[in-house]
Amino acid sequence: MKNILITGGAGFIGSHTAVELTVAGYGVVIADNLSNSDTTSLEGIEKITGRKILFYKADCCDKKQMQKIFGENKIDGAIHFAAFKAVGESVQKPLMYYYNNLTSFTTLLEVMAESGGGNVVFSSSATVYGQADVLPVTEETPRKTAASPYGNTKQVCEDILQDAVRAHSDLQGIILRYFNPIGAHPSALIGESPRGIPNNLVPFITQTAAGIRRELQIFGNDYNTPDGTALRDYIDIMDLAAAHVSALKRMTDHQSAGTCEVFNVGTGNPLSVMELVVKFQEVNKVNLKYSITGRREGDVEAIWADTSLANKVLGWKARRSIEETLANAWAWEKKLRRII
Ligand code: UFG
Repeated sequence: MKNILITGGAGFIGSHTAVELTVAGYGVVIADNLSNSDTTSLEGIEKITGRKILFYKADCCDKKQMQKIFGENKIDGAIHFAAFKAVGESVQKPLMYYYNNLTSFTTLLEVMAESGGGNVVFSSSATVYGQADVLPVTEETPRKTAASPYGNTKQVCEDILQDAVRAHSDLQGIILRYFNPIGAHPSALIGESPRGIPNNLVPFITQTAAGIRRELQIFGNDYNTPDGTALRDYIDIMDLAAAHVSALKRMTDHQSAGTCEVFNVGTGNPLSVMELVVKFQEVNKVNLKYSITGRREGDVEAIWADTSLANKVLGWKARRSIEETLANAWAWEKKLRRII
């Protein structure tokens, strides 16, 4: 059995990926400092998979803690999620973002290189494209200057991985550029539970539907899009999780140490904020209070993925419908808030 270290594995994307990896027959080791998560997600992973998860409460910036994990386990590969991710906060606290996001990744790579190498998946973001001139974006679409320190850490970490695999011939990498991950595991045992006021659209919607937020504000309806609201590519969290399994399989099947491929992970279907709000209400038969306000600073007008490379090379494709995804998101929020 191959053992995969998931840094940030207690978080939203990490926990769903841990489930998919376990189901696919991998041994999973999670390292998380729980700075933006708690152990409830670990219990959820264990309930869903029926398997015990090996968990280290560890900070990836701490080399000694990482060396301990590699010393105690045979780690064949790693998926790196451990990072701060709030765009606005990164503008307020750039040094904290640069320190954490760059140090955690370089430390992981250093420890891997010292322990005989392995396969690395880096969780990047569509944010690296900024507002692209041509849509949908392919992996060849040029990256734009990052609009925030958060976005910049994604770009720099992509570069770090490219440089690291070039210099350490026993390291192999894949960069996955996520579009907008939403939803929850269909069991409602794990899902997204941001601390404080959610920044992202779907958790804000589910919390509004649950009565925790008074109303949803739609940031701008004067974009150059069919209904004036911004277009995004919303991908189901379980589809996204499955892309990591495909990425690891790709690196095992096509042993090509010293290389680092890049893939978009989206559905290829643009959806407007308003369309999503309408769909959420229809699918879940709830009324959502919302109003239109001004644009949010730093938002792009429209972005969605050309996923043909991932379809062809990884043999991966997003399968779940937006309806299924929004139903799962609401089922999770209801369970969390004990709404019958
Ligand atoms: N939106 C609202 N109201 C809200 C929240 C969001 O109208 O309360 C809109 C946004 O303006 C945007 C769309 O919903 O048009 C999606 O917003 P999200 O915050 O859910 O997602 P983003 O596209 O802004 O975020 C994505 C990734 C982030 C990444 C960011 C960088 O999910 O991880 O791009 O710009 F940081």
